[in-house]
Amino acid sequence: MSAALILQTLERAAETCADPAPLVYGRLFALRPDFEALFVMDTDGGVRGSMLETCFNAILGMEDDAPVQRVIISSSRFSHTGYGLAEADLDLMFVAIRDAVRELNAGHWTPQADAAWDARLAEIAAIA
Ligand code: HEM
Repeated sequence: MSAALILQTLERAAETCADPAPLVYGRLFALRPDFEALFVMDTDGGVRGSMLETCFNAILGMEDDAPVQRVIISSSRFSHTGYGLAEADLDLMFVAIRDAVRELNAGHWTPQADAAWDARLAEIAAIA
């Protein structure tokens, strides 16, 4: 049920906006301005696009307790320490995604969708 709600909000976001990356990263950098400098080498936005896709797959792939996505999230927490990130910092990316998706669903965002996203973010945050 919550999976269907999350998927619905992602589909509506995709209809509203072909490329949500600027919105998501704008939100991420508003939360943590120091993160923007980490992407200076990503001149064409390719890394940001691919990272965002990985995150979308993680959000959707959490269904059925999918072990693959859990491993991806867990290993990203570890690998990103190489960029100076604390493991918990990675959760900000999912917060930025949820906030951008909520903005793109303006007028259609329901308390049920909100609860589904809250639960999914909590589930991701619990992955060490
Ligand atoms: C606060 C959140 C995050 C920050 C600041 C961040 C930062 C970065 C940086 C600096 C890079 C490398 C850029 C480069 O090589 O030029 C990167 C790459 C990557 N990140 Fe993140 N990251 C965050 C969250 C995440 C999360 C949550 C995931 C996945 C669950 C993720 C997955 C990846 C992947 C797969 C790449 C490699 C992309 C590619 O080179 O194709 N990141 N990230």
